[in-house]
Amino acid sequence: MESPNLPSWTTKKDRISVLEQDRALLSLMTTIRDVNTSDREFSSAVEKVVRRLITSALNHVPAEEYTITTPINTTYTGVRFTKGVCGVSILRAGACMEQALRDTWTGPLSFGKLLIQRDEETGIAKIYYSKLPASIPNDIVLLLEPMLATGGSVIKAVETLTANGVPEDSIVLVNVVSSQKGLDVVSGRFPGLKIVAAAVDMELTAQNYISPGLGDFGDRYYGTCS
Ligand code: URA
Repeated sequence: MESPNLPSWTTKKDRISVLEQDRALLSLMTTIRDVNTSDREFSSAVEKVVRRLITSALNHVPAEEYTITTPINTTYTGVRFTKGVCGVSILRAGACMEQALRDTWTGPLSFGKLLIQRDEETGIAKIYYSKLPASIPNDIVLLLEPMLATGGSVIKAVETLTANGVPEDSIVLVNVVSSQKGLDVVSGRFPGLKIVAAAVDMELTAQNYISPGLGDFGDRYYGTCS
């Protein structure tokens, strides 16, 4: 058992964590899920949830004790992160999480992009575009994907990252809504992957929409619903 005297930042973080379902979060998620919410209200509520997700995901960045002197000449032992962060968006929806990462993380930061789509004929997820920074193997990678439905795109993304030298246990999937099935598939396939989500929904529809879900995330965030 861990000593109760250890600072909280040294204790082990859960590999899969769901944000605390407090009223502020549930109220935002209610707005996000409501079919009557306008696109502007949707994106505004999403941004607030994503800030909380990013803050939680940053708990997986390693840190060390760091002692400073305060203006009244007293020492204070806090923490200092020891690795940089790379945000990798699965396009298009994942890109909506980039600004929250820029605003929240103060250390070394880079971004990568992956465009992954399902091949209509084979049904297999395929990479159409990939641009990753050369320094990515040394970073903690926040894989930005708001919706985890079947897990196909996330599996392809994690495979691409590991093929580019990123250790599996340096990847944190940042996700607004997971389906239980997607969560099981992805966490079973990659035992080192960390996952931070705001909600887990039990069902998938025949068209692979998460249910109750929130509809098409990208269309609502970018205002491209017909
Ligand atoms: N992507 C979405 O935008 N919504 C879903 O429900 C599933 C995947």
